[in-house]
Amino acid sequence: MLNVVVMVSGGGTNLQAIIDAVEAGTITNTKIAGVISNNKNAYALERAAKHGIPAACISPKDFEDRAQFNQKLLEAVDAFEPDLVVLAGFLVVIPPEMTAKYRNRMINIHPSLIPSFCGTGYYGLKVHEAALARGVKVVGATVHFVDEGTDTGPIILQKAVEVRHGDTPRELQRRVMEQAEWKILPRAIDLIANGRVTVEDQKTVIEEPTRSGQEAEMKVLIVGSGGREHAIAASAAKSPKVTKMYCAPGNAGIAEFAECVPIGAMEFDKLTAFAKENRIDLVIVGMDDPLVGGLVDELEAVGIRTFGPRKNAAILEGSKAFSKNLMKKYNIPTAAFENFIDPDAAVAYLETAKFPIVLKADGLALGKGVLICQNLEEAKEGVKTIMLDKKFGSAGNEMVVEEFLVGREVSVLSFVDGKTIKTMTSAQDHKRAGDGDTGLNTGGMGTFSPSPFYTDEVEQFCEKYIYQATVDAMAEEGRPFKGVIFFGLILTEDGPKVLEYNARFGDPEAQVVLPRMKNDLIEVVEACIDGCLGQVELEFEDNAAVCVVLASDGYPLKYEKGFAISGLEKFKEHEGYYCFHAGTKFDGDKIVTNGGRVLGVTAKGRNLREARENAYAATDWVEFGNKYMRHDIGKAIDEA
Ligand code: GAR
Repeated sequence: MLNVVVMVSGGGTNLQAIIDAVEAGTITNTKIAGVISNNKNAYALERAAKHGIPAACISPKDFEDRAQFNQKLLEAVDAFEPDLVVLAGFLVVIPPEMTAKYRNRMINIHPSLIPSFCGTGYYGLKVHEAALARGVKVVGATVHFVDEGTDTGPIILQKAVEVRHGDTPRELQRRVMEQAEWKILPRAIDLIANGRVTVEDQKTVIEEPTRSGQEAEMKVLIVGSGGREHAIAASAAKSPKVTKMYCAPGNAGIAEFAECVPIGAMEFDKLTAFAKENRIDLVIVGMDDPLVGGLVDELEAVGIRTFGPRKNAAILEGSKAFSKNLMKKYNIPTAAFENFIDPDAAVAYLETAKFPIVLKADGLALGKGVLICQNLEEAKEGVKTIMLDKKFGSAGNEMVVEEFLVGREVSVLSFVDGKTIKTMTSAQDHKRAGDGDTGLNTGGMGTFSPSPFYTDEVEQFCEKYIYQATVDAMAEEGRPFKGVIFFGLILTEDGPKVLEYNARFGDPEAQVVLPRMKNDLIEVVEACIDGCLGQVELEFEDNAAVCVVLASDGYPLKYEKGFAISGLEKFKEHEGYYCFHAGTKFDGDKIVTNGGRVLGVTAKGRNLREARENAYAATDWVEFGNKYMRHDIGKAIDEA
């Protein structure tokens, strides 16, 4: 067991990273024996106290001369009988007797790529100020052994971090800490604790060079359990950056790529605790409910990098009244509308309205809170359903009454980093349960991508009036949006208009869009988080994909679950074919149906017709009790 003393002066975020890593078991064979600070107000001392770690404060202010202070400092260190002394933001010159005594047993984290910006006068924020003033493009952090010089000892690990245009010293400092310091310092301790570091000839030799701090090791947690999350997991798994993936709660298909953990998407406390304990590097929130509920904010509050909009931006999907008002304020084309909180006022308005007309519950309603009413009778019934009977729960506390628009619908998903937006290839879904767009509204019975109706002309219009305008409007409102914006568009005679926004990938749009994306999903997601999406060029394959949803007969009303599913293995043998699980679970070692929408069968083809043929052929590969599907997914393309 390596007995470690950590020496601090200030915030102690590096100390925290060490504590977390010891608690999570990422650092093994190590005990933090004590903490020493030269500053009694250091927040690091509170961190030590919280974790029951003994601490001592030796301040130079309490001693008449430096020699006395040096002696007391050495005594305090010796008292813990350390095998290793870790300087984690200790901003005092180390006494020479201590350097001599702890040669090759004392390490320091320095916030630059030594030999740049080190030595006397370079510490903390000053390092970053100097780096920015010099205009360097790459900075980073270094862990090294301490010798008699300042920042001159043998180097153990280094990690580079890119400087971004417009970085302030504080922003740069934070990124260097997050991306480099908090990773390489615990890593170096673990290497030392496990006897993998030796110093020969003033040079450090590390066994197992492949696991050096230079290498990205990334643990990803995906939140959600549907076909969309399966598509996200399948894409993320292709990234060479990802070394371990978890999904909460996941499903039987996702389990192929990720360890599924039984935590619900709305169990925020459990999710944050899990992410902290397992030192998750990146969380991707797939579902709308946790986004609208503020999961991103909670994860960020404990220092976990998370992809998805914060609560104040997820409102773009969470409240239709908000999004309609936003579009009105910023002249983004959308259907004419009025918002109501009083059912009587809504009815009074409807009495003089033109039919058909659309009623929308304000909040989230699993994509089902939209009613198209042909006449006043139906509209009155609709007001009752949404606002009085509360069929969609509190989503119906407010209601949007909207002009009925005629036209073809197109979905466009986009990545957004707060300021920059990059759209993905287009797609279109089929909401109704039955062939020929009959029957009840569902979560989606199938999709195809790209949409032949999304012409260059339509795209140019949307780029000019809709996409960037939406991102700018959110930023202007003090709600910068980072994540995926899903634009539900309708192509009317008067040009494209926004029907709705979603604050995440569509389901089942993700199942036709992501398989066609050439980029490393993780790189794009990180660029969104880091605000540098402008540097990313999104690329999609020049082909098409169709997804046919296999549902349980009776969906979306009543259906049975628990039927064994056969034939899933066939998808592994065919390139360009995917079977995304939506409602499945393990029953022993069998996979059984566990929802209304069970599987999404996606196939690619050189064009939409071929993709459709391939997808329908593949629907025959899988069987389960009460299997139901639409037979006309993507048929609209024949009209194009
Ligand atoms: C860290 O950035 C560390 O690299 C730096 O002080 C900061 C302490 O932060 N150390 C030096 O500059 C040493 N020359 P923390 O207290 O939050 O860990």
